[in-house]
Amino acid sequence: MRPASTSLASESQDAAQPAHSRRAVRSFVVRAGRMTAAQQRAWRDLWPRLGVEGTDDESPLDFGPLFGRDAPLVLEVGFGNGESLVTLALAHPERNFVGIEVHRPGVGHLMLRCEAERVGNVRVLCDDAVVVLQRRVADATIDELLLYFPDPWPKKRHHKRRLLQPAFVALLVERMKRGAYLHVATDWQEYAEYVLAVLKNNPLLENTAMDYAPRPAYRPQTKFETRGLKLGHGVWDVIFKRR
Ligand SMILES: C[S@@+](CC[C@H](N)C(=O)[O-])C[C@H]1O[C@@H](n2cnc3c(N)ncnc32)[C@H](O)[C@@H]1O
Repeated sequence: MRPASTSLASESQDAAQPAHSRRAVRSFVVRAGRMTAAQQRAWRDLWPRLGVEGTDDESPLDFGPLFGRDAPLVLEVGFGNGESLVTLALAHPERNFVGIEVHRPGVGHLMLRCEAERVGNVRVLCDDAVVVLQRRVADATIDELLLYFPDPWPKKRHHKRRLLQPAFVALLVERMKRGAYLHVATDWQEYAEYVLAVLKNNPLLENTAMDYAPRPAYRPQTKFETRGLKLGHGVWDVIFKRR
């Protein structure tokens, strides 16, 4: 039986989900967002090359063969429209980048940008990152994890939907190599404080700064960051290293 806290909205979404991805509380709401003709073409023509099937298969992914080479692995969770992922991949051709995003038009946008910029070092999964990380990523695999402007779920009754919670952080830490980085940025101060506290509490993580890190020059300004800045929000970067 499902916990009583599961909302009706997520019940009805869950009914449309494959059984394996039915989590009681999820960090996202699948938006209906219309797919442009170009994004539809990307799904048809580019997904076979750039896309990685998500959670139907339960074997851990071997990332090297997906790229045709072994290289440090950077994973971005919830990349939105993927602009930051493309910018980082272009700036670091020596690294392999994997993005996970549930929003299909966003995945289409990312694939179109990869095609336009001739980016060869990006692969994408369109699935719930929690399930992907549980099922398809082996321990000690990731060199760098990026979570840029995860949904802050500001209402107290929605806090349980927040992606960054102790159990998910423990999972991330298992999947990170020793010395790997976990970089979170948010424009919601109370979430920043919460994230800082959760990461500080994990004994396998150490802060690279006293509290918040200065904004690193390499981090692109994302769509949600721009939106937050227009609303007068501050921005907080939190960067921890796996011991
Ligand atoms: C607030 S948006 C930020 C997007 C982008 N990083 C930016 O800064 O513009 C959060 C994104 O995370 C995605 N997301 C939330 N939970 C997710 C999950 N469990 N797995 C994959 N994507 C998720 C949402 O679909 C959404 O696109």
